Amino acid sequence: MASRSVQRMTTLSEEIAAKTKIITDHLTAKGLDAASFDVDGLVEFPISQDDEEPYKARLDLIALTKELHDIALGPKENLRYLAWDCVNTLSLQSVWEFKIADAVPLDGTISYEDLTAKVREMNNGLNISLLDLRRLIRHAMTNHIFVEPKKGFVAHSRTSQLIREDAPLRNWVGFMCNDLWLPVANVIPAMKKWPASEESTETGVNLAYKQDLPWFDFIQQDAVFSRRYNLAMQAHGSGEGYSMQSVIEGYPWGKLPQDATVVDMGGNQGYISFAISEAFPNLTFIVQDTPGMRTPETIGKVPQHLQSKVELTTHDFFTPQPIVAAAYFFRMIFHGFSDKYCLQILRALIPSLRKGAKVIINDGALPEPGTVGYIEEKTMRTLDLFMQVTVNAREREPDDWRELFARADERFKVNGIWKPEKSRMWFVEAEWTGE
Ligand SMILES: C[S@@+](CC[C@H](N)C(=O)[O-])C[C@H]1O[C@@H](n2cnc3c(N)ncnc32)[C@H](O)[C@@H]1O
Repeated sequence: MASRSVQRMTTLSEEIAAKTKIITDHLTAKGLDAASFDVDGLVEFPISQDDEEPYKARLDLIALTKELHDIALGPKENLRYLAWDCVNTLSLQSVWEFKIADAVPLDGTISYEDLTAKVREMNNGLNISLLDLRRLIRHAMTNHIFVEPKKGFVAHSRTSQLIREDAPLRNWVGFMCNDLWLPVANVIPAMKKWPASEESTETGVNLAYKQDLPWFDFIQQDAVFSRRYNLAMQAHGSGEGYSMQSVIEGYPWGKLPQDATVVDMGGNQGYISFAISEAFPNLTFIVQDTPGMRTPETIGKVPQHLQSKVELTTHDFFTPQPIVAAAYFFRMIFHGFSDKYCLQILRALIPSLRKGAKVIINDGALPEPGTVGYIEEKTMRTLDLFMQVTVNAREREPDDWRELFARADERFKVNGIWKPEKSRMWFVEAEWTGE
């Protein structure tokens, strides 16, 4: 009789085989390829959330293979590796910083000697030794970045090629491995210097860059940095889980009172309001944002046919809300602020709230522990930590939302917290029960 631990290995390997079969059967039936590190391979699986069974099988496969991989290492080796794998960031940073992906030819191979010369040339003659370059690249290869098909010669893998050709992803790499690396290393010192801080000026970023500005003010000082951030955010926020469709379908907009006004707070150039308004023409939207968003260069044009339905205005959401409306909508706002500031935002609504008014929040969905698959949990917990690194803010679990509204004012009643299917964001609906 096999022990429990041995049995677990067997179960994992059987489940891995079964899940893999679901995926490969699906691809074969449709005549599709799998993702691959081969230089001409697919960068992602051609499986969408609509392909329900293979989609779920792939998520399961990621979790199962991770568990079996970690078991095969065993806790001791796993911990050793976990701790020193921070150098994954080092080798990846070097690929980005020294533009190595641009120096390796798209076809064929290049010797380390020629590559060193080319990288030096591309980096204004910086004296990078062959030895240093080679060890960084050979480490990157352990993460499928480049290959060495013949000893001493480097070629692209599909991953390294992506760094060359996919601008948002390339900027994501630079942003994470370069811009945020020192800030990450400064989070614990920041926690010691400013215990339990909720201020966006007391973060790892402030310590790392020796400055006292909040994140957005800081990055806007440097056009290159701020452009990199914006492009990196495209790589992060363009996935299916953040689609406009899940905003439109994820909330019962049709149940708001006929001809209701919705205030879209921090609504940027109004593109979310445009989309909801198209789908629910009876609603009227007032999009509020900072004056900086309403300059002639940045102001979004309200499409002609929506001009009677959507208005772009300015309002600072930390100050008392002047518009009495049926609903106040916040998308991707609260996760950027600590509780202290979220409470201010909610309380600033009170002067205009009338009985039955709704506060509708669409924001990051931090799951309760163990309630979702491995990759979703890991993604949201990672995002939560990055909110701490940059702005001392946080992602919130359902209980955190309830607590936030309760602390803001006892007249807020939370009606529901849900995650629409295929979405990576919660909807939270609260109602004003006061007069
Ligand atoms: C992460 S973006 C979200 C934009 C939009 N709601 C969306 O879902 O794409 C945050 C927005 O909040 C705006 N914002 C920041 N501080 C603000 C303030 N004090 N008052 C109003 N808007 C603010 C920013 O200008 C930005 O447009």
